[in-house]
Amino acid sequence: MKILITGSLGLLGQEVVEVCRNRGDEVLATDIASPATPLDVRIPATLRGFLAANRPDWVVNCAAFTDVDGCEEKEDLAFELNARAPGHLARACEEYGAKLLHISTDYVFDGEKLGPYEEDDAPNPLSVYGKSKRAGEISIQEGIEHYLIVRPQWLFGPHGRNFVSTILGLAQERDILSVVNDQWGSPTYSKDLARALRVLIDCDARGVFHVRNRGKATWFDLAKRAIDLLGLPTRVVPVDTSAFPRPARRPMNGILSTRRFTRTTGKVMPSWQISLKSYIKEYLREQRRESRD
Ligand SMILES: NC(=O)c1ccc[n+]([C@@H]2O[C@H](COP(=O)([O-])OP(=O)(O)OC[C@H]3O[C@@H](n4cnc5c(N)ncnc54)[C@H](OP(=O)(O)O)[C@@H]3O)[C@@H](O)[C@H]2O)c1
Repeated sequence: MKILITGSLGLLGQEVVEVCRNRGDEVLATDIASPATPLDVRIPATLRGFLAANRPDWVVNCAAFTDVDGCEEKEDLAFELNARAPGHLARACEEYGAKLLHISTDYVFDGEKLGPYEEDDAPNPLSVYGKSKRAGEISIQEGIEHYLIVRPQWLFGPHGRNFVSTILGLAQERDILSVVNDQWGSPTYSKDLARALRVLIDCDARGVFHVRNRGKATWFDLAKRAIDLLGLPTRVVPVDTSAFPRPARRPMNGILSTRRFTRTTGKVMPSWQISLKSYIKEYLREQRRESRD
């Protein structure tokens, strides 16, 4: 299969490239900062030219403005990249016969629901990031018939900064860390997510899907488990969201139901605790490599 990946230098994009290459796909790995294949998803003419020249079967859009607090300040950029660019991509894919897999987020929900969010629950984003991502979903749905929108959450993984790598960096410098213990979600390993995306492509799935690792946690649970796995003595102190005022509001309950994913693919995602162990092993290998160089 010929697969075009946008935002391929990001946390998720790099894993999608690897999973697809390992599956034997012909991969066109693009990113705004890619030296070999630069592609800015905000420019419709460039997108159309790229699709016309390369004719991929699928486009996987991992490009986004993902700095949740930064989006509050840079609202124009948030909407340009997270809302309008997916629309340009959708229309270009429709024109050149490619199917489109777009990545959205649990932050399209307000977190007020008591149980897990189903795909058809009404979105009500609290932040500029969430609003721009929700607008991106709508642009996709209006722009192309064969779309696949996947909403993951709380990503961690080896390529790029994320909550776990930030916490591990801080824990190596500090004796005590305070971490929020009243927001709930499911930490999700970028490698597991990338594999799940490729499975959905194999199933020729359409529509909206929630994908995340199994189990739930607070940011405190995730930080504590990661620090324990690394064997650091840092004390982790649970605090409420109110102790850490941030520019963007986050949902208190972001747990997503993955029943549709399992029903469609027959697959069950690994638990976040098992996947965190794999990531920490990789993190340690990387640290050893860096200290040798
Ligand atoms: N990370 C999470 O916890 C999380 C949770 C839920 C959903 N998601 C969603 O998952 C997707 C992937 O997230 P991620 O964490 O992998 O993001 P990321 O690491 O920030 O990767 C995004 C990539 O897109 C590139 N990019 C920026 N502007 C571009 C443009 N105009 N054209 C082409 N590429 C551009 C970025 O380059 P620069 O770095 O040079 O800007 C970066 O390489 C996003 O849709 C995000 O909303 C993420």
